[in-house]
Amino acid sequence: MKIGVVGSGYVGLVAGACFAELGHDVCLVDNDRDKLAALQAGECPIHEEFLPELLQRHRGKRLHFTGNLVDAVRKSQIIFIAVGTPPKDDGDVDLSYVESVAADIAGAIDTYKVIVEKSTVPVYTNTWVRRIMLLNGAPPELFDVASNPEFLREGSAVADFLYPDRIVVGAQTARCFALVAEAYRPLTDGSYYEKSDMIPGPVDGHFKARLIETSTKSAELIKHASNAFLAMKISFVNAVASMCEVVGADVEQVCEGIGSDSRIGRRFLRPGVGYGGSCFPKDLLAFRAVARESGLHFGLLDEVARVNEDQRHRFLRKVKKALWTLKGKKLGVLGLAFKNGTDDIRESPAIAIVKSLLKEGCRVTAYDPAAMKRAKEEFPAGSVKFASDAYEAIDGADACLILTEWEDFSALDLRRMKQLLRYPIVVDGRNLFKPALMEAAGLNYYSVGRADVVSTRATVTSFMKHAIEEDEAA
Ligand code: UDX
Repeated sequence: MKIGVVGSGYVGLVAGACFAELGHDVCLVDNDRDKLAALQAGECPIHEEFLPELLQRHRGKRLHFTGNLVDAVRKSQIIFIAVGTPPKDDGDVDLSYVESVAADIAGAIDTYKVIVEKSTVPVYTNTWVRRIMLLNGAPPELFDVASNPEFLREGSAVADFLYPDRIVVGAQTARCFALVAEAYRPLTDGSYYEKSDMIPGPVDGHFKARLIETSTKSAELIKHASNAFLAMKISFVNAVASMCEVVGADVEQVCEGIGSDSRIGRRFLRPGVGYGGSCFPKDLLAFRAVARESGLHFGLLDEVARVNEDQRHRFLRKVKKALWTLKGKKLGVLGLAFKNGTDDIRESPAIAIVKSLLKEGCRVTAYDPAAMKRAKEEFPAGSVKFASDAYEAIDGADACLILTEWEDFSALDLRRMKQLLRYPIVVDGRNLFKPALMEAAGLNYYSVGRADVVSTRATVTSFMKHAIEEDEAA
């Protein structure tokens, strides 16, 4: 098929590369000339597993980059709109980019096309896109508008696209649904999974992706409701973790117990410093705005956001509990990205926590395997030091703080960690370590929803060691 994708951000770029992987001819449109030039020159602008391979495999063959929207629309049977939908101050979503693309597409339509909303948008966007296209002169018989929300996660976006739990297509006509379904056929008939050079995923060769046909409004709601539900699960477990801390229970045991109920499930029950990223915080607010505008009070969503915000403050209180005063303390921070596997720092709890620590007068040395380049732009020059690995970040620090769930951090050598730290203190906002292991390593360990490990002997020994070293150095 001939497919156009408008917008080469996370969703557009991954969808474009994956549609090319499924055998389609894809034209990826963007109006950012620098981005286009970089893509044309073979660069991959985001840190995403398998994306560089896909771009390399299909660029210039089945995947083309262009700034010419009219040309791309004329060549394509389906046009996916994947432009940004940033949040406004009131939590509502700014749909002006979607509107402007819809108006431009309207002027270019010459044969029947399906326009697909792929960006995360509130209910009624489909109706508005159709209305805008009609107002801009698109003949009604020459187009349909479908909703096909994207559920990919950053860090595993390519695998999520190619091995989806479900593909949701909201369409008003059978013709429109059939065309969008056709674009995904190699996934729904399973033929993609029989290819020898397929991108590896979580299933074996006999997988067939599930296609769900809905109305356009239902498809729009499915996306917001899915993200709100997952955010709710995280806030729920974070609230349970706080409860565990108060009553002296262990959140890992509690999660094992509740997650084993197949109606609840084990996934998205990891307590921590709260959710971040470009989706959950924004989508939750947008969903709440939709409810408000529809005259509904969906107070549960307020509580989900409140618990999430509180989780950062709770972490800061833990740091204070471990170190008493903060002013002048030297902290080694591990992790800046909003989660592992990505260089994205949008709405990252780690960035918010570091900013609060700086306000308290702490000196921070940070390390992140992928997000340091982006993070450097977030802090005033010189306010945060950046280390070239985790050990360098914690060298001589009064405490090590773990803020992102990178696998590399859980493989750190605990003996070396203890030797490098000035005080043997680890405050872990992602529960990467088993408390018993930390105790055995002589570290004082504060995590989420589990008992603190505090060994006076470890503190005294380590403090004396460093005092002697400092004396010798003097
Ligand atoms: C999310 C949705 O998962 C995806 O379906 C949607 O298309 C976009 O939004 P993403 O933002 O990439 O994806 O990240 P996700 O893996 O969902 O994690 C979001 C945040 O929740 C991260 O900050 C992560 O650290 C946090 N999280 C996740 C937890 O704190 N606990 C968990 O159990 C799971």
